[in-house]
Amino acid sequence: MSAKIIDGKAIAASIRQDMVDEVAQLKKEGITPGLAVVIVGDDPASKVYVGQKEKGCAQVGIYSEKYALPADTSEEELLALVSKLNIDDKINGILVQLPLPKQIDEKKILYAISPVKDVDGFHPENIGKLVIGEDAFLPCTPHGIMVLLKHAGIDLRGKEAVVVGRSNIVGKPISLMLLSKSATVTICHSKTKDLSFHTKRADVLVAAVGKPEMIKGEMVKDGVIVIDVGVNRLESGKLVGDVEFESVSKKALVITPVPGGVGPMTITMLLKNTIKAAKMQA
Ligand code: GUN
Repeated sequence: MSAKIIDGKAIAASIRQDMVDEVAQLKKEGITPGLAVVIVGDDPASKVYVGQKEKGCAQVGIYSEKYALPADTSEEELLALVSKLNIDDKINGILVQLPLPKQIDEKKILYAISPVKDVDGFHPENIGKLVIGEDAFLPCTPHGIMVLLKHAGIDLRGKEAVVVGRSNIVGKPISLMLLSKSATVTICHSKTKDLSFHTKRADVLVAAVGKPEMIKGEMVKDGVIVIDVGVNRLESGKLVGDVEFESVSKKALVITPVPGGVGPMTITMLLKNTIKAAKMQA
């Protein structure tokens, strides 16, 4: 068998094309969606992500402001900026790029962002709403995964979904989203006794651990649907996922590549959340 490859890049491009029209229409109604992107320090990966976020905004017509603060910014200074953005009418969404420098308590910052401007979906109010199935800002990466699964025509009802990884950004929220679509969800993590036992049972496997190519072909069954969230740079410079594509794609029915799978969807969902925030606040 040879897997069908989900082209996240193409799906993201098509969604962004629709957003161009939606934003143009909103502007006619006097609503210009606005996003503030805050980066503290000069982590190279964060700089790349923030650049992509600004580019995405420009592409669909969203107004954006970037705040690049020095690495020695204090918690008070960052909190002051968040407070200012919370009451800025031009700004509908606030994104503070993670990770933050050591002197700043990430939790304090995320809690300070107004839940109605929390386009990352990291505020406990939005996470709580996700848990009980109320409308909320959904975290961008897991939201993007759900959109990819929908595009691939996958009906999750009753499927055995196995999530590897339990982070607040991906593992936990994707588990809740899969559950909300009536999958039977298992969450595996670093203390799981027999990982293969679980991954071999998966109809849908989501790998979100950050370990290059840890999911091998012999760990999955024929016909599995594989979502690879990993973005790992090898010493050779090659970018690989958490899944060994070569061996797993031979058994999978459907698989997302790295790069070009989940990645392009994350920022697309951020843009979607920013448009949603603008409409809610209008
Ligand atoms: N760092 C890595 N992923 C993310 C994300 O989705 N949002 C923010 N704000 N920071 C990140």
